Amino acid sequence: MPVVRGKDIEVLFNATTIARRNLELAKEIATRDYHDLLVIAILKGSFIFAADLIRAMHDMDLSPEVEFIFISSYGTGTTSGEVRVLRDIDNEVAGRDVLLIDDILESGKTLKFTRDLMLSRGARSVAIAVLLDKTSKRQIDMEADFVGFECPDYFVVGYGMDVAHAFRELPFVGVVKGDA
Ligand code: IMP
Ligand code: MG
Repeated sequence: MPVVRGKDIEVLFNATTIARRNLELAKEIATRDYHDLLVIAILKGSFIFAADLIRAMHDMDLSPEVEFIFISSYGTGTTSGEVRVLRDIDNEVAGRDVLLIDDILESGKTLKFTRDLMLSRGARSVAIAVLLDKTSKRQIDMEADFVGFECPDYFVVGYGMDVAHAFRELPFVGVVKGDA
């Protein structure tokens, strides 16, 4: 088991498995009839997944524009989450095909909020790609179009995802097991 910052980390999805899956996702995305594709990565957790997925998309001859939106959601879990935009995109959305990229689909509130925002701005279509789907934690009716992996109900870190700002740099997705 890898030890990072003095903690044992159990690997759930290793770098090779993720890279292979990213290529499959890019292939699926390339089958869609996109005219003017605008990728919007939801920060911070999606930054590594988005970076890898757009390069896999390039291999499938897709040439999206890329934007970033900083969304914060408070009270995830049992309380009702308040979702808001901390930093918006700079780009026009009206008439365009938007692909939202996020790390995890959990309650569904973050992605529902962001999708509705893009639809209200006149997007031609809004699709959603997530690395991980925690279906057991869903609170509203919300599904992603492209899902990397079904995720067991653990708090996961790595590959962009953090716990208390730590572990984003891990090249794999794992679970912190405790002191090594
Ligand atoms: P929700 O779908 O609105 O509940 O929010 C999902 C967001 O919560 C994701 O974009 C992550 O930023 C964060 N999140 C949920 N579960 C985890 C986890 O296991 N590790 C790290 N971040 C998580
Ligand atoms: Mg997030």
